[in-house]
This record gives sequence, structure tokens and C-alpha cells, in this order.
Amino acid sequence: MAVLVTGGAGYIGSHMVWSLLDAGEDVVVLDRLSTGFRFALAPEAKFYEGDIADRALLEKIFNTHAIDAIIHFAGSVVVPDSVRDPLSYYENNTVKSQALISAAVEAGVPHFVFSSTAAVYGTPQNAAPVVEDAAMKPESPYGSSKLMTEIMLRDTAAARRFTYTALRYFNVAGADPRGRTGQSTAGATHLIKVACETALGRRKELHVFGNDYPTPDGTCIRDYIHVSDLTDAHLKALQRLRAGGKSLVANCGYGRGFSVLDVIDCVRRVSGRDFPVETVGRRLGDAAFVVADAAVATRELGWKPAHDDLDFIVRTALEWEDHLGKRNQR
Ligand SMILES: NC(=O)c1ccc[n+]([C@@H]2O[C@H](COP(=O)([O-])OP(=O)(O)OC[C@H]3O[C@@H](n4cnc5c(N)ncnc54)[C@H](O)[C@@H]3O)[C@@H](O)[C@H]2O)c1
Repeated sequence: MAVLVTGGAGYIGSHMVWSLLDAGEDVVVLDRLSTGFRFALAPEAKFYEGDIADRALLEKIFNTHAIDAIIHFAGSVVVPDSVRDPLSYYENNTVKSQALISAAVEAGVPHFVFSSTAAVYGTPQNAAPVVEDAAMKPESPYGSSKLMTEIMLRDTAAARRFTYTALRYFNVAGADPRGRTGQSTAGATHLIKVACETALGRRKELHVFGNDYPTPDGTCIRDYIHVSDLTDAHLKALQRLRAGGKSLVANCGYGRGFSVLDVIDCVRRVSGRDFPVETVGRRLGDAAFVVADAAVATRELGWKPAHDDLDFIVRTALEWEDHLGKRNQR
């Protein structure tokens, strides 16, 4: 049996490919390399360069490899871009996911694991960890485009011999502890990546978007999860579906939050470098507090995070940034 990873040349997908290979799985990757990188791909994975909505290519993949599960990361991921250009987000995240799911069902692929996001919840009602059955009120086309895919999966699973797990990621950060891959995204907006780039002198300063939120230090609080713990949750989801587990939606986060200022302090401490920070106005749509209730992943997947440690997350992110800098100089 083989696992098809869409978006396997991207940040999270490239870590997933390594986790699957480490677990002895046969891995096939489909990626059009729009934001991913050929160099991020583990050489042992079989690679198809192309689009997830290319029906002929999907048929070729399903006819060539005994795919029993798809782990679907491919998509467009920048929230403000989705506000500026909503239709391209619905196209790439929703319409093309529909094409992929439909080709999978037709080919008899029984299992599917989907990269969903905390953005499906919108702004949590209060400063408490958010549970999976909280109200879903996405506040961006990005969040809506992912929620629509979750709904398609739910309805498909009700109608066909098909089970899925949708994992709603909180703030993914860090890099492979063995240094094989990391986040290479150009112009990333993720706080830990941006802070590491600033610590290494690749950006002039770091902007803090608002310090008047109702939190202890006035900056937004988020639940940062190490990317290897996240890929481990996918492995467990895959094993559970193969063992006959029912379809499931589960949050992926540690259940505790750090403020923007906590993260900046941590990056300064771990890197041993100070860097300029400027407080600017709030960004539209940033919620004060977004933290996962991870009880479902713990209970249903038997997920036990190994890297719930902000210093460790930051250290691995810095190591990857350092590696990227040297690589780009070559
Ligand atoms: N990074 C986060 O913090 C975060 C949080 C929540 C959810 N997610 C979800 O995780 C998934 C992966 O995110 P990432 O941060 O690794 O992003 P990324 O941009 O690094 O990876 C996406 C990959 O998908 C590929 N791709 C995009 N559209 C494609 C298409 N139509 N056909 C084939 N390949 C295509 C890109 O080339 C890239 O390699 C996304 O679905 C995203 O919505 C990420």
C-alpha cells in the first residue's frame, strides 16, 4: 500500500513525507511546486509534478500505485491574500479539493486525511480553549474554503465507502529536529519564522500588530505546535482509519498559548541576538486568544505530543533558517 501526499514539497507536507518514510510507508507526492520546493522533497518519495485537479494525472497515479490513503496538504494558505482574491482561494482550496476527492472516490481510495485549520472557527467567543463543536464562523475566504472542504468530506463519507480525518491545525512552527526539512516559504507571515529571520538579520525589524488586546501583556495569544508533533497526529489518524476507525474531526494544538511578546522573548533568548521590534496597529480579523482544546486528538488518536516546548520549537526553526541562509549563499 502507498500513501499519496498532496503538497508534499511544501512546509508541512515535506515533514509528513519524512515521517511516513521513517515509519516505513511507501510515499507518492503530487505537488505543482507553486509554493513548495523540489529540494524539500525526500529523495525516497516518488514525485509527480502537477495539479491536484488534473484528472488524467490522478488516474495515472492511482493506476500505477496501490494508494489506500491520501493526505491532502496542497492549497493556498495566506489569509490576507484570500481576502484580496477570494475566488482563487475557493478555486484552489475548495473546487480543486472536490476534484481530488471525487477522483479518489471513483478510484476506490478508502481513506483521506485533510489539513484543516483553526480559521474555520473565526473568533472564539471567549478566552477558553476551543472545542471541535464550537460555532464555525470563519472570517476569511481562506477559512471558508477549508470549511467547505470539510463539509464535502463529511457528506462523501456519509454516502460512500470512504472515511476521513480532518485535522484543524493551530499555529504550526519549527522544523524537523534532524534538519532534513523546514519552512522555506518565501515571504512567510508566520510569527516564529519572521522573528527567526529578523534575529538572523534577514529582516530589518519585527512588527507587533497591536498591544491593546485584552490579554495579560496586550498582545495576541496563540497555540504554537511543533510540525513533527503535527505529522505524528497525521500518522496516528492514518493508522486509525486503516484499522476501521470512523471519520473524525480533531484539533491539533497543545492547549496552551503564548503571546507575541512571549515568542519574541523566546527567539531573543534562544538565538542570543537582540533585534528591533516595532508596535504598529492591529490587523483586521486578529482574535485576542486562539488556543486548541486537544482532548479529541488525545483520546481518539492516542496523540501524545513530544515537543510541547516553545524553546525547542524556536531552536529547530532557527537551525533551519541558518541552514537556508547558507544554502542561499551557495
Ligand atoms: N502553516 C500553518 O500554520 C497551517 C495552519 C493551518 C492549516 N494549514 C494547512 O496546511 C496545508 C499545508 O500548509 P503549508 O504551510 O505547508 O503551505 P505550503 O504553501 O508550504 O504548502 C502547500 C503545498 O501545496 C502545493 N500546492 C498548492 N496548490 C496546489 C495544487 N493545486 N496542486 C498541487 N500542488 C499544490 C504547493 O506547491 C506547496 O508545496 C495547507 O492546506 C494549509 O491550509 C497550515
